[in-house]
Amino acid sequence: MSRVTDQGGRFTPPMPESRPEGAGVISMWHRARRNLFAALPAKLYRAWLAEMRTPFYSSYLANDPTLVRTALQERPMDFPKSEIIRAAIGDLLGRSVFVTNGAEWQRQRRIIDPAFEGGKLRATFPAMLDAAEAASDRLASREGVVEIEYETAHAAADVIFRTLFSVPITEAAAERTFQAFRRYQSAAPMVNMQDLMRLPGWVPRVGRRRRLQRRAAREIRALLLEFVEARAREIAAGTAPDDLATKIMTTTDPETGERFDAAEMVDQVAIFFLAGHETSASALAWTLYCLARDPEAQEAVAAEVRDAFDGPPAFSDLRKLPFTRDVFREGLRLYPPVPMMVRETARAEQMRGKEIRPGSAFILSPWHLQRHERIWDEPHLFDPWRWGRTDKATVRDAYMPFSAGPRVCTGAGFAMQEGVLFLASLVGRFRFAAVEGREPVPMAQLTVRSQEGIWLEVRRR
Ligand code: HEM
Repeated sequence: MSRVTDQGGRFTPPMPESRPEGAGVISMWHRARRNLFAALPAKLYRAWLAEMRTPFYSSYLANDPTLVRTALQERPMDFPKSEIIRAAIGDLLGRSVFVTNGAEWQRQRRIIDPAFEGGKLRATFPAMLDAAEAASDRLASREGVVEIEYETAHAAADVIFRTLFSVPITEAAAERTFQAFRRYQSAAPMVNMQDLMRLPGWVPRVGRRRRLQRRAAREIRALLLEFVEARAREIAAGTAPDDLATKIMTTTDPETGERFDAAEMVDQVAIFFLAGHETSASALAWTLYCLARDPEAQEAVAAEVRDAFDGPPAFSDLRKLPFTRDVFREGLRLYPPVPMMVRETARAEQMRGKEIRPGSAFILSPWHLQRHERIWDEPHLFDPWRWGRTDKATVRDAYMPFSAGPRVCTGAGFAMQEGVLFLASLVGRFRFAAVEGREPVPMAQLTVRSQEGIWLEVRRR
């Protein structure tokens, strides 16, 4: 059951239902077909290390900050990316940086990371601002009740097209790619419960709707290849714009001197689109929903924006928006777009008295860690003011919407810039209100989405 309670103006946003204690494997499977969250027990909000046993396999979910640190920061090579992820989305991502491990992954990061470093990020600001203004104008033309997830997905895809390829989403090929991504997203949960349970290969992967997914993946890759090949021609002719695609395609690996070839670049572009627009769209939609439910916080953002700038913001104006930033951080705490990350134990581990066999699924869950009932005060409450009083250790130990360690999200800085800019642009221009009787229920798809959309009433200020 989702839960929405307003007590004295404070707001606890909806949570997914949990699996009842004692429910068996079959029930878990059926619930997972509807919504992965519904297959997980409520005790995960209090557990430090939970074991999930099935007849075939055991998986572990770690919330103990020491264990999370071990897996992500101290010994990441002993907790590589799981094959489960490649099985789930490899048809779209090929061998992109998101799914590879070891030397292959290191080489890819050496080429990609420079494009997202501080100074380069600043260069993406004008394209991001154009996308924010276009989104704001679209919303102005649709005043009334809107499904905000669709709007934010469209806007975040626009950000990616403009920053990566200098192309607005209004161009036909960009729009077609976006629509194919939507079909892919609705057909593919990032982590399939049946994979987590390691059901044998002959058990049909219900719920994945594989054929639909494969067709969408093929279409997306063909469209992205056209973008990449066109860009390669422009680079050769010396006419390429100075955007992220050009930066990545012209960067050589400092160790080997190699660049990405066209096929590798398609793999990387596919993950930028997927990781870069689904996640930002989800974060922005849930944060706007929380603001719609918390008028005091919403008006505080609007006031901060009014004080910070008049007219279109400059890059340096973002620094004048600390509360807006805290609101976005709080949205990412309650609704981390990547709710769980699956790793695999490369060797036997002993943790909190449990013997963990090599090859076990080892899950790190921003969703549970960031709502952990033994770590956070009032963990399920939307309270952007908490960021002014939460101690550093809690943030370090129990806040990781972008993961942590060497595999931390490449786009974290990009996404924070985008989130703050979009919140400021939209809340500065519009007032958002929740639509009674249409509370969204979170579900785990590729990212955290709502079961039937997030409906908000939008009016110009
Ligand atoms: C609010 C927005 C975003 C959130 C919450 C987010 C979150 C994450 C998380 C949790 C991971 C780690 C996944 C894992 O290890 O299993 C990740 C990885 C990644 N993200 Fe993001 N991301 C966001 C936006 C972006 C953007 C805008 C880009 C690029 C344009 C991006 C590119 C990537 C890439 C390439 C990886 C793979 C890194 C690696 O494995 O080495 N992300 N992201």
